[in-house]
Formats: sequence, structure tokens, C-alpha cells
Amino acid sequence: PIPVFTFNNGAKVPSIGLGCWMGYPGGGEAVETMCRTALQMGYRHLDTANGYANEEYVGRAVRESGIPRGEIFVVTKLPPAGHGKVQQYFEASLNALGLDYIDLYLMHWPQAMTEGPGPWLGETIPRGNNPLFIETWKEMEKLLQTGKVKSIGVSNFSIKNLRELLPHCTVIPATNQVELHPCLPSFELKAFCEERGIILTAYSPLGQGQTVLLTDPDSKRIAEQHGVTSAQVMISWGIQRGTIIIPKSEKPERMMQNISLVKLSDEDMKTLDELHMKPGMHRSLVDIHKENGTVFGWTYEELGWP
Ligand code: A2P
Repeated sequence: PIPVFTFNNGAKVPSIGLGCWMGYPGGGEAVETMCRTALQMGYRHLDTANGYANEEYVGRAVRESGIPRGEIFVVTKLPPAGHGKVQQYFEASLNALGLDYIDLYLMHWPQAMTEGPGPWLGETIPRGNNPLFIETWKEMEKLLQTGKVKSIGVSNFSIKNLRELLPHCTVIPATNQVELHPCLPSFELKAFCEERGIILTAYSPLGQGQTVLLTDPDSKRIAEQHGVTSAQVMISWGIQRGTIIIPKSEKPERMMQNISLVKLSDEDMKTLDELHMKPGMHRSLVDIHKENGTVFGWTYEELGWP
């Protein structure tokens, strides 16, 4: 069985979810098929976003699954163009999903963008002296009163940005969803969040296929010892350190692997914790963005990223 974690507000969350980012535009029918297969297989947590342009398909898979709504944990996100327009974007997500409520609504990025011809295609709005994400968070807090969302959280928040946000929070974010895997373990951010009751959610837990994680000899050796694949080792590591994991796969065999955990020893955990220090291992999506200079037009300084 997939372990269940508890948020700071008491809400329960299946610790493994299916990541639904399929590139842009959105994946269409393929996302729906992926979600249907996952739900049949035992997945009970689906992670999508307005910016993935596929909520409609994810929602249909949920509604037509025959599984009681209360047993499925659905996550979606406010896009960068939705800062300052939370109510409008939230309703749009709810309608696209065709659901009565959302389990978890996340602020997808700490910074705002103008509306553009597609998700991520607007212009960055300069931060100025009055950070928009604080106002946006206050609007998100109001959504809780409607009962149409059970928990709220953030994504892509650094310690720097959390330090700015938290003093203004009436509701502490339930989670901060960030890129996490043994090439980018973010120990400091994890400790910071844990001290404040915020669970980290790991996106790209397999490095989106762009890292050497799955072929590293140490991860392969650990996998062999447990009779599983490197991917299963990465996911088990993430769960054992107390983070929610949302790997994406369209292939049923891999989807099954990704919810089949093993118990790693302390020594295995230590080896994996130290993997990022090996030469050539420290390659994350964050690094790839860094090579490009900015992330959607935002500088590293603004984001406060490692
Ligand atoms: P596919 O959908 O073809 O299975 P991440 O979640 O880190 O972004 O990684 C997703 C990528 O890793 C996708 O390209 C996915 O491809 C691949 N993937 C997912 N699960 C596994 C697995 N168990 N073994 C190998 N590759 C996987």
C-alpha cells in the first residue's frame, strides 16, 4: 500500500502521486489514458496544473473512474498569469476538471506573469516593493472558506521567498512542491520547511530523464540488492525522507514500479544522500535553467534558488 502523509491542517495525502506534466500542449487523450490506467492500478493522487493545459482530461479520468471522489486526491495550480486573479483562475480550474472541489491548490510560481497566448508565454511582471505572491497567498487563503479547496500550498519557493511569505500567512502552506531527487536533495530547504510544518513535494523525482540518476552505478547496485530498478530506489528514498513524490510515467509497467516501494537501509539512504557530491552528479533542471540564465524571465536572485 502507498503510505499516507498528513498535512499541517490534518488532511491526508497519498505520498505517491502521478505527475501529469506532458509538455506543452498538454498531452490530450494521452493524459486521460495515463490517469485512467493509474487509477485502476491503485494511484489515488493526481498532480496537474492550469499551466499543463490538460485539467479537462485529468478531471474526466477522475469522474469516470468509478472510484468515490473522496478517495482520490486531486492537485492543481494557479499559473503565473493568475496572480491577482485567484478567484477567476480557481473557478476555471474547477470547471475544467469538472469537480466540486480540489484537494490541494498550489501557487505554481512565486512570481507573476501577464496573460500571454498560452501558459508560460506572458511577460514577467517585475517584483517591485510589494511582492505579488503575498497578496496572491491572501486570496488563496480566502478560497479555503468556500470549501471548494481543502488545502493550499506553494511551488518553486526558495527559503528566501518563504521567509518573505510566512510572516504574512494566516494559513501556513501545506506543502512546497519543488524539484527534488538525489542530484538535488535540497537539505536546507527541507529542514527549513519541516521546522515550519511544511511537507516538501518532489517533482521530477527521476530527474525528468535529464540526469544520470537512473544509470549511476551506486543507485544500480542498491537497486540490484533489493531486486528493483533504480527508479524504485529513487522513489523509495524520497518517501523514506518524508517527501511526497509525483513521478510521471505513461508506461503501465513503470507506473506499477513507481508505486512499489522497498525499505532502504540507513547505509543505502546515506549513499543516496551523498550521490549529488559525486563528480558529474550535480545536474538538475535547476542547473539547466541556470545555464539559460533565467527561469521564465526571472533571475536567480529573484527566485532565491540554489
Ligand atoms: P515514460 O512516461 O515514457 O515512462 P520525472 O517524473 O522525474 O519528470 O520523470 C519522468 C520521466 O521518466 C519520463 O520521461 C518517464 O518516461 C520516465 N520514467 C518514469 N518512470 C520510470 C521508471 N520507473 N523507469 C524509467 N523511466 C521512468
